[in-house]
Amino acid sequence: MLTAEQNEFLTNTDPGTPMGNLWRRFWLPALLSEELPAPDCPPVRVRLLGEDLVAFRDTNGDVGLMDAHCPHRLADLFFGRNEECGLRCVYHGWKFDVNGECVDMPNEPAESNFKSKIRTTAYACNEQGGIIWAYMGPKELTPAMPELEWARVPDSHRYISKYLIQCNSVQATEGDIDNSHISFLHSYVNVADRARQIRYQSGSQIAAYQMAQKSPRFTIKSTDYGIMIGASRNASEDSLYWHITHWLIPGYALVGATEPGGTSLCNARVPIDNENSWFFRIRWNADRPISEDEIAEYRFGGVAHAEVIPGTFMPKANKSNDFLIDRALQRSFNYTGIKGNVAQDGAVTTSMGAVVDRSKEHLGTSDSAIIAMRRKLQKAARDLMDGIEPLPAHDGTVYKVRPAGIILPRDVPFDEGARDRIKATV
Ligand SMILES: [Fe+2]
Repeated sequence: MLTAEQNEFLTNTDPGTPMGNLWRRFWLPALLSEELPAPDCPPVRVRLLGEDLVAFRDTNGDVGLMDAHCPHRLADLFFGRNEECGLRCVYHGWKFDVNGECVDMPNEPAESNFKSKIRTTAYACNEQGGIIWAYMGPKELTPAMPELEWARVPDSHRYISKYLIQCNSVQATEGDIDNSHISFLHSYVNVADRARQIRYQSGSQIAAYQMAQKSPRFTIKSTDYGIMIGASRNASEDSLYWHITHWLIPGYALVGATEPGGTSLCNARVPIDNENSWFFRIRWNADRPISEDEIAEYRFGGVAHAEVIPGTFMPKANKSNDFLIDRALQRSFNYTGIKGNVAQDGAVTTSMGAVVDRSKEHLGTSDSAIIAMRRKLQKAARDLMDGIEPLPAHDGTVYKVRPAGIILPRDVPFDEGARDRIKATV
């Protein structure tokens, strides 16, 4: 458990807070490239780390991300005209380029130099891997891009979905690295159904391990990028099945343990504000394009994705409709009566409250990954207060890892036995 003060420290990413300062040291997934499909297309609203912003793609194709409020009279630039390399406020015609410079002020006399004194807050943007990334920290500390494998594979080898989740990003991430809940929240009345759903070639076997042993044993390794989590279950008398996941500071979980050559899964969680978060769920395969079958499943929700309300990122099954829980389904088919992992995870993580009160919880040994992650995140924020910059923010190469599922002899440490499997190669 955490005290109320520690909880606030962990979860508050507003401007000027210690955790807000930490998040602002990293390039963050801000929106999908496809949300700004062409030069001079309509601008979009973006809220990140408690700041209201507007994103636009200018005539040259460059992306701007700036304060949503025009610095003149604070009108919303979302209504702006995106034209000739700048976004123009429709109130009085003030126009800003992607760097936040005021480049036109047509309601002031031509001889005025007022324009040259005006600039608005604009954050650096970068496009990679189907994502528009934003850096919201001090300019002089702008880091290199994180070397996440999914962002570096060819576009055909990746599938991204994006959801609005109505809770703080940290508790959503805690779900991602909590291997023990798989045996419950995502389980089925019949193991065969679970096996069919997880779609690995050896899926039936993995499902059998997960259902047979509902209390996995955890081994946590502290790493340069965050933590590596090994959850082991009995496979045979001599061997263990290891489900290896990684938490990458500040908000990535590489989950979805796969076979060699399998498709991996990253959950990227980015605070919209303290009570809402963006969830980018990314599939990638370093060796081959994502198949049409896989895409068809992801697009229509399937097991691990979700259908959204058209024109939004809000899942159709959400807090307002109790995630469409079906009690008959809960009796006959799956543990929750809720369809799909996004909705199942969403139901439990948002039901704790927008920011869970961690002073009231009771953590056991199965929560060791959650405890380690919280410690690491708080330590990074405290270090930053002491002038120590977070390592992954200036060395993106530390992120070059993959999740894995692997059977190992009982006496082999998982990080050694899986060394080659957890290395990212792209
Ligand atoms: Fe889950």
